Parts: sequence; C-alpha cells; structure tokens
Amino acid sequence: MPSEIKIRELKPEELAERYELSRLAFGGPAEPPPSALEVRADRVRYGAFDGRGRLLGTASEVVHHRWWDGSARPAVDVGGVAVAPEARGRGVARALLAHLLAEARGRDAGLSFLYPTVSALYRSAGWAMVGARRSIDIPTALLADARSRAPLSLRQGAPADLAGLGALRSAVAQLRNGILAAAEGTAASDSFPEGIDGVSIATDDGGDAGFIAWGRGPGYHEDAVLTVAEIMARTTEAATSLVALLSSWRSVAPTVRFIAVPSGLLSHVLPLEVAREHRTSRFMGRVVDLASLVRSRRWPAAVSGGCTIEVEDRLASWNHGRFELAVEGGRGELTPTTRAPQITVAVNGLALLACGSATPEMLAEAGLASLDNPAAVPLLRQVMVSPPVELLDYF
Ligand SMILES: CC(C)(COP(=O)(O)OP(=O)(O)OC[C@H]1O[C@@H](n2cnc3c(N)ncnc32)[C@H](O)[C@@H]1OP(=O)(O)O)[C@@H](O)C(=O)NCCC(=O)NCCS
Repeated sequence: MPSEIKIRELKPEELAERYELSRLAFGGPAEPPPSALEVRADRVRYGAFDGRGRLLGTASEVVHHRWWDGSARPAVDVGGVAVAPEARGRGVARALLAHLLAEARGRDAGLSFLYPTVSALYRSAGWAMVGARRSIDIPTALLADARSRAPLSLRQGAPADLAGLGALRSAVAQLRNGILAAAEGTAASDSFPEGIDGVSIATDDGGDAGFIAWGRGPGYHEDAVLTVAEIMARTTEAATSLVALLSSWRSVAPTVRFIAVPSGLLSHVLPLEVAREHRTSRFMGRVVDLASLVRSRRWPAAVSGGCTIEVEDRLASWNHGRFELAVEGGRGELTPTTRAPQITVAVNGLALLACGSATPEMLAEAGLASLDNPAAVPLLRQVMVSPPVELLDYF
C-alpha cells in the first residue's frame, strides 16, 4: 500500500463527505438521503486519507450472516468502493480492499461477496466471478395455468408478519448456499418497506408454507408491472398457490417481475421458458480466511483423506503459503506445512471451488491452478465443491 495512505473507519460527521465522494463516482442526488448519513449496525464505512488528511477513497463492509452448508455464517461483503478522480491509479482501492479483508477475517468471515462495476480490479485482488442475481419478467397471463392446480388457502399478511416469516425463510435458505440469514432481534414493523404493498401467505397443516411480498406499481395498461420483491415456498403446493394468486392480476398488470427467485422448487413451477431477463447483476466472491472456511464447512461424512495445497494470495498474507488439508468424519482442518504441494492454486480459484463454480480441472484449464500431483485431484473435487452460491439480496 502506498505509504502515505492511512485507512480508518469514518466518523459520523465524515459521512456527508463520504456521500459526496460516492455521488461523484456513482451519481445520485446532490442532497444526501438520510440513510447515507445514518450510522448503521450492518455497515462499517472506511475512508482512505492522504498525509494531509484529505479523503481519497471510501469502501464499506456490509456485515451480515449468510446460510452456508446448513448454518448461518458471518459474511462480510464489500460495497461502495469509490476513489476521488485525481487519486485513481495509485493503489487506493487495493489498499481499501486489503484493509477490509483483514477486518473481515477478524469477524470470522469465510467468504466475501461484491457486485462489481469493474471486474479487473477485484480479480487482481483475489475475487472471482461466481454467480448472477437475475430479475425476470413473466407475462402474467402465462401464470394462469397454476390456477387449476392451486390447492392451498391464502391469507393476507400484515407488515408485522414479515419478521414472523423468519422460520419459513430459514427452512428454504438453509438448503441453499448464500441466502441472507435474518438479523437477530429484527423488530416487527407496523408498515411495509418501500415498494411493498402486500404480503400473501400460503398455509397448510404445518403452518406457513410459502409467501410473496409484492408491490403493485402504477397504472393498469399494457406497461403495468406487478413486482414480487420476495418469494419463498417450502412445498410445490405453496409455490403453485402463490403463482396462481399472481395470475389473478392479468387483467390489470400484464407483467410480473420477480426480483430474485431461489433456485430449485420455484424453477419447477414458474414457466421460465417465457421469462425475459429484466436485470442481471453478476457478483464476485473471495475467500477471506481459508483456514476458517475449512473449519466451518460441513464436509461430506463419507470423504476422508488429505492433500498438500499451495495458495497464492497477494492481498491476504494469512492465506498465502503451503498447507495440509485434512478431512475426516465430516470435519476439515488446514495446517501450515513445508511439504511440496500436490496442488497449487490462486486464491481466485479457491472462491470458484468453494462456490460450486468450477472443478479443480477447470481451474487448471483457466490457469488458476496447477495440478502438480493428480492423485490429490479426486479428493479436492469431492470436498471443495458445494451447491452453487445464490445471492438474492443486493447491497
Ligand atoms: C474503480 C476504482 C474504485 C479503482 O480505484 P483505484 O484506486 O484507481 O484502483 P487501484 O489503483 O487500487 O487499482 C488496483 C488494480 O485494479 C486495476 N484497476 C483499477 N481500476 C480499473 C479499471 N477501471 N479498469 C481495469 N482495471 C482497473 C488496476 O490496474 C490495478 O491492477 P493491478 O494491481 O493488477 O495493476 C476507481 O476508478 C473509481 O472510483 N471508479 C468509479 C467508481 C467505481 O467504479 N467503483 C467500483 C464499484 S464496484
């Protein structure tokens, strides 16, 4: 990091200056919105200062938990990276990212995600492209088929129900990797968040089985869009009943926009073959602390063995070096070693392995790994690849 750059958490009275720097990069109203000046429990905003105390750049840690391998794990994601135009190209962004990684390690995060505007910057800092968040449009009339197969009753949810749906959210999210876990102690609100007009809940003998949070939007002509901000279902019957409910808007909202749909069950219910992509936001992931990730993963119980692995990580020194990976009885451990590596891998490659985006052979093909001893490859293939990561939130 350039020696004259100092990085520290911004004070509340510096948030207006941070907003202005961010506005000059991303655009936005001249007057800061209240949320930009609020101190928030889930955001730590950092500033990079020169020797004379001038703010050169900023980046935010987005602190929350994501479901991974069946449990809610700390995740520290990155947002709002911006550098003053005159200070660009001098390593300010890289220094901010290095600082954030060290902080994220302190919070026991295994992985970190971000939505890039420029992948080259993050790729050179160890992130890799691991997935996409898609919002899709489906003609409302084409959802009508679900009406004939919709067995569950539906009830109208109140704003306070949104917090109460946590158990249902968790039931869906814990089968997948990457969905946000609700923040502890989230208070029930007496009004819906902006853009939400209603919550509809499908119930069965086991209680709440699925829900949609939706916003009606303006107008009722051919350009009217009903937006589904969130949809979750734990049975096909619940999913079908909710989709049938959406189809009832076909006379006044010809399009239903789904902001992000969990994989699996809903893909089997929605007519995705007629969906149009509304917006695709690709995201990148990075291993924050490989040892922590290895320790906290739920490893396949049937797999046991070990291999030596050399990791190249220029920004997070604690990941850099040679390690012994040992997996036994559903537990994994990573310890430093001096033995020759069987596999050498760039830290970007580890993110692709951990997020279910590539096998070891695919990393070798991309120049992100060298398989020095092929005997170790089958083990690594079995233990590192998870279900693909899916982020439904945007930050
Ligand atoms: C993108 C931005 C944050 C980069 O900041 P910076 O301080 O100039 O970046 P650095 O000097 O630390 O560059 C670090 C690395 O990223 C690369 N990089 C930086 N900006 C890049 C760009 N626009 N295109 C391609 N590579 C870029 C650098 O070449 C360098 O790579 P290297 O170490 O392999 O040589 C800055 O240009 C900016 O504020 N842009 C507008 C806002 C924005 O797009 N923010 C990103 C939001 S996700």
